[in-house]
Amino acid sequence: LRIAVLASGRGSNFAALLAACDRGELAADFVLVASDKPDAGALQLAQMAGIPTCVLEPQAFAERRDYDLALFERIAANKPDLLVLAGFMRIIDGDALKPWVGHMINIHPSLLPKYRGLHTHRRAIKAGDIEHGASVHFVTAELDGGPVIAQTVLSIEAGDDEASLASRLLPLEHQLLPAVVELIAANRLALAAHGITFDGEPL
Ligand code: GRF
Repeated sequence: LRIAVLASGRGSNFAALLAACDRGELAADFVLVASDKPDAGALQLAQMAGIPTCVLEPQAFAERRDYDLALFERIAANKPDLLVLAGFMRIIDGDALKPWVGHMINIHPSLLPKYRGLHTHRRAIKAGDIEHGASVHFVTAELDGGPVIAQTVLSIEAGDDEASLASRLLPLEHQLLPAVVELIAANRLALAAHGITFDGEPL
């Protein structure tokens, strides 16, 4: 499976994918790591691993759509089979992502459909939720609204704050994302017109 990763930040989820490859659990070829931020940690990790990188900064573009089309054109040039959004902190224009629907997944730190968008940990605590988690979903034009593939769940403890919750969730994210990518690489998981299929059956 040829994978392109999009990341804006430190890249620990990307690192978890690399580690799964190193352990022989994931048969993937990382063809590109793309970022909107020149200082993204994910880019450094990619460079250390000898993976091509691409940085495209939004400031040079007047419209979001122009930026997204340019970014996705660069990504497409590397012929990935799957795009993984691993902490890519931008909303993607619908026209740019349309060709990739079914071939692009995102990891989002909430139990979707709860808490789309930002500040998910804070919102879960404020709401008095007793559990929280992360979701991997197929990306569609609706922000954090595409079909959910899998989730990881943890309890919110008394005294948890945004930071403690985020740091307890992160290692679970690092298990969830590679597990989903492994299923896609093994051709066991796909998005069909009627929804997600697992081993050919509706999920
Ligand atoms: C993760 O919490 C992920 O769920 C969210 O952004 C964060 C990225 O962390 N989408 P990292 O850059 O992978 O370390």
